[in-house]
Amino acid sequence: MYHIKQPIAYLIILVGMSFIACKQKEVAMNEKQGLKNVFADDFLIGAAINANQILEKDAKALPLLPQEFNSITPENIMKCEIIHPEWDKYNFDLADKIVALGHKNDMFTVGHTLVWHSQLSPFVNKIKSKDSLALFLENHINTIASRYDGKIDAWDVVNEALNEDGTMRKSIFLNLLGDDFVTEAFRLAQKATPNSELYYNDYNIEQPKKRAGAISLIKKIQAAGVRIDGVGIQGHWSIKGLPLEDIEQSILEYSALGIKVMFTEVDITVLPNPWDLKGADVNQNFEGSPMMNPYPDTLPDSVQVALADEYGKLFNLFLKHKDKISRVTFWGVSDANSWLNGWPIRGRTNYPLLFDRNYLPKPAYDKVVSTKKVKVQGS
Ligand code: G3I
Repeated sequence: MYHIKQPIAYLIILVGMSFIACKQKEVAMNEKQGLKNVFADDFLIGAAINANQILEKDAKALPLLPQEFNSITPENIMKCEIIHPEWDKYNFDLADKIVALGHKNDMFTVGHTLVWHSQLSPFVNKIKSKDSLALFLENHINTIASRYDGKIDAWDVVNEALNEDGTMRKSIFLNLLGDDFVTEAFRLAQKATPNSELYYNDYNIEQPKKRAGAISLIKKIQAAGVRIDGVGIQGHWSIKGLPLEDIEQSILEYSALGIKVMFTEVDITVLPNPWDLKGADVNQNFEGSPMMNPYPDTLPDSVQVALADEYGKLFNLFLKHKDKISRVTFWGVSDANSWLNGWPIRGRTNYPLLFDRNYLPKPAYDKVVSTKKVKVQGS
């Protein structure tokens, strides 16, 4: 009996040791590698960065950026009101800096955004004639996009041109130029920056009606013989449940158009919103309401785990369709930077990203990494 049991015991010890070694290697790999390397064979991993981070003044974000991310998007500084404040005045300081930062760290740099109805400079909102607005559009796109041709890898050319029902959103562009303004913007962009990829970017375009609207918009651009390289599904979602089926259907339908699909502004809010409350007046002022800001000090474990689970489901889906997805960008580096601390109610404490307020990885980070490991081990 003894001589039979001994080899079995050795085998068990050997298997146990290699399991431990494997786990240690995994942990070590994870610590050293960062998200960008974990998903290197799948898609780019990006972050939106704010002015402080672009100026390299955010000491905690500084080492994290090149370690975890291989793509960056400016959260605000390329928006019209900042980069083009007056008819013949441009502020390129911060834009030049993000381009330099991307170049220094070998990151895929995304320009955000050339045409958006929001955050327009006051002078644009005062334009009354079709000709003047067409001239603004031409000057704006030519001046900005051509400056960074060969330096900015891709542009969100048009941002948020659609309503929830898939129709075109009312805006100064639609009102004065008609719905061809989207195709026209892409035509100008392809001329100004032949070396950048060109994207349409919007939120909720995984939802069926809005998705249908986005698909017709993209087909219209393509039918005009104008280049569009990809679509950005922003991905501002809630812990109350991700629309996974719609997301999957969207990946399939958009990629069937022959363009890249990417998730460009991912975050998952853990806080209640006015429109979640039955009968709530969305315009009611909830600022300072403890009910609407339930985790001012720390996130309870149960919510932390639920958040991690949602992120896990999301990345499992992304991996399933990695051949169609080119990039996943988070809208912020850490919870401390998220716009969701200030919207739709100011002064709240939200926890929507993978890094906490000290820029340390959260359980959601580990869950995201584990989706890849399970795949690798299982395959
Ligand atoms: O920089 C000014 C500051 O000078 C001023 O004193 C202060 C007073 O309110 O405002 C500061 O500007 C704020 C800016 O963010 C920078 O922090 C604006 O008020 C605020 O409206 C702006 O919000 C940004 C929002 O877009 C509107 O541009 C968010 O940070 C940014 O995360 C958000 O990003 C958008 C994407 O571009 C498009 N998709 C949706 C996404 C979330 O709304």
